Amino acid sequence: MDKAGAIGVFDSGYGGLSVFREIADKLPDYDYIYLGDNARVPYGPRSFETVYEYTLECVNHLFAMGCNLVILACNTASAKALRSIQQNDLPQLDSVKRVLGVIRPTTEIVGQYSKNGKVGVLATSGTVASQSYPIEIEKFYPDLEVFQEACPMWVPLVENNEHESPGADYFVKKHIDNLLGQSQDIDAIILGCTHYPLLINKIREFLPPDIQLISQGKLVAESLEDYLNRHPEIDELCSTGGSRQFYTTESTKSFDVKAKIFFGQEVSSKHLPL
Ligand code: DGL
Repeated sequence: MDKAGAIGVFDSGYGGLSVFREIADKLPDYDYIYLGDNARVPYGPRSFETVYEYTLECVNHLFAMGCNLVILACNTASAKALRSIQQNDLPQLDSVKRVLGVIRPTTEIVGQYSKNGKVGVLATSGTVASQSYPIEIEKFYPDLEVFQEACPMWVPLVENNEHESPGADYFVKKHIDNLLGQSQDIDAIILGCTHYPLLINKIREFLPPDIQLISQGKLVAESLEDYLNRHPEIDELCSTGGSRQFYTTESTKSFDVKAKIFFGQEVSSKHLPL
């Protein structure tokens, strides 16, 4: 039988920390290992093949560190790599290990946020091109209309700590206007990239106040809790001790400074060479 290990949380960079923060808050007793592939961020504009290859490589590193359950706290990786990993790789690697994403927990509940039946999705170019949101939302809410807008500059703004600067206004307003230009009846918007909660104040500045913004952290944490309750056999494989370890594929120095902004606490990371 596999030994219990930490829950792995993966993102291309810092964005997943906005999800990890909520998970660690909701489920504090588990051990966790966060891995940010900062050396290769952004994933958003990369091809399916590349995102899949990078994501699988990072998931394998987390498995090698003892994780039996890995959360892809990245929409782009969830959109482009999750299905292949679940269907093709896991059965060969280890049938006990599990990898979960962030798109399903969001699409399952999105219908509860919209009265008009029109929902917007703001995400990376890769997530938008994958059509994952419209496809998944249709399974739960076939009558919901979904409008998408890719925001390729938003991740670099956040990664470079420019998300609160006046320079960010132009790119935030531009994409909000483009999305709302597709339908004036959109009344709920999914922040479909785990970096975007850092831009939430700016986004609200340019958004009519009656439009609801759906941020994923809490939803993913609730969904994970529910998953572990429904799957005691996986829960048993997640160790408890309350430890948090952080790994980055880039420099630990800059990771620790920026990670604090996303995670809301001091972070002391280790380098993971690829
Ligand atoms: N945080 C990732 C997401 O949720 C995207 C960042 C990137 O482009 O690498 O999609």
